[in-house]
Amino acid sequence: MPNILEFIDANKSRYEEELKEFLRIPSISTSPEHKGEMLRCAEWVSSEMKKIGLQNVKVMPTAGHPVVYGERLDAGKSAPTVLFYGHYDVQPVDPLNLWTNPPFEPTIVGENIYARGSVDDKGQVLMQLKAIEAHLRTASTMPVDVKVIIEGEEEIGSPNLDKFLEEHKDLLSCDTVLISDTPMFGYDQPSLCYGLRGLCYMQVDVTGPNRDLHSGFFGGAVENPINALAVMISKLKDEKGRILIDGFYDNVQPISELEKKEFARLPFNRTDFMKDLQTDATPGEAGYSELERMWARPTLDCNGIWGGFTGEGAKTVLPSKASAKISMRLVPNQTPDEIAQKFEAFFNKIKPAGVTITVTDLHGGMPAMTPIDSAGMNAARKALKEVFGKEPFLTREGGSIPIVNSFSKILGAPTVLMGFGLPDQNAHSPNEKMNLKNFHRGVKCGALFYSNLV
Ligand code: BES
Ligand code: MN
Ligand code: MN
Repeated sequence: MPNILEFIDANKSRYEEELKEFLRIPSISTSPEHKGEMLRCAEWVSSEMKKIGLQNVKVMPTAGHPVVYGERLDAGKSAPTVLFYGHYDVQPVDPLNLWTNPPFEPTIVGENIYARGSVDDKGQVLMQLKAIEAHLRTASTMPVDVKVIIEGEEEIGSPNLDKFLEEHKDLLSCDTVLISDTPMFGYDQPSLCYGLRGLCYMQVDVTGPNRDLHSGFFGGAVENPINALAVMISKLKDEKGRILIDGFYDNVQPISELEKKEFARLPFNRTDFMKDLQTDATPGEAGYSELERMWARPTLDCNGIWGGFTGEGAKTVLPSKASAKISMRLVPNQTPDEIAQKFEAFFNKIKPAGVTITVTDLHGGMPAMTPIDSAGMNAARKALKEVFGKEPFLTREGGSIPIVNSFSKILGAPTVLMGFGLPDQNAHSPNEKMNLKNFHRGVKCGALFYSNLV
């Protein structure tokens, strides 16, 4: 039997072909028209799980998109159990015209494979399935017991997964959760992430007059909902970047002095950061570094805003309606429910006369922190060191994976966030890509992670 790392090296081109197949399925969870494709993708994942040697593989229904489950539990009585979690759903692809190649026609250029889902999260899911496969092709069993769940609703806030965990607590019981859905600090710099922000995602709809009006005839005596919305949005933060929603910071856990020191030691380069984004400043909450602001402080951002006339040319209209989508990234110990209530109360307080508003809570996710000294973290640290030849950085991240909190709350298991993305890989943007060298290194790290646990 070949050595497991040699097996992985010998199978790189097959992995890339399989990844292309996975990436060709447009599994956009938020879009009702893609319901059939979601199911097709779940079936693909299930057949892949069977092929690599997982057992008891099933596509399990939820109130939304299904969860795919598989396991391999023949490592022996004293072996620990790892639950690998990932998601097969992807974000929408718009604006389509900014993609160089069609989003669901995976294209390899140089070291990268371009497609929606390549890094978030299909590439990282497949690399971990290949890690399991490499064990089962070079030995008769896994070194530890392994369970796998790949869900289809992460990108819409995992609305049905808590219930799924509750209902299948025994099936999913484990000692450690493993997730590959976070970035590395840099191309050659492996990272283990121990904190994720939460999310509270709101929509505000503003109605002024009961119909669109001639802005000359009526302008001056009617409130314009777009103007009113802009004024309300401008009241959400002060000039120092502090969020003004009453009580917003009540439960925010301050960044510890130790953590501040650790963040400051990481080689964040402001100039490179600005150059990559072709921007000339890194504004945000006063008194905090960029890494502190992006990883460990809450934020508020408009994600979309619309209303009135947006076609070509000019139309003198005083519109009836305007809307905005506004989301807030949360940190421990804020909760999405608490923040949604405070957000709604604040809008009702600042709403000017002459308009009515409706505030809707679209979805949310809890922030999460994971222990840095667990058996899983140590196994991951060692695996990364073996493959990259470098100690991993310990990082927090600004993104959210809502279910991480539930893994500790419902299953009582700590999570290891060992991810292989990169900051420039355009997750959620046009031309999303996965670096293939890091894909293959990721397969090896996944494989060694299991060996290092025993
Ligand atoms: N993989 C990301 C989470 C992520 C992004 C972690 C960046 C660390 C850094 C995940 O797929 C994601 O995009 N999550 C959503 C969750 C939301 C829809 C509840 C997010 O963060 O916007
Ligand atoms: Mn993801
Ligand atoms: Mn995502």
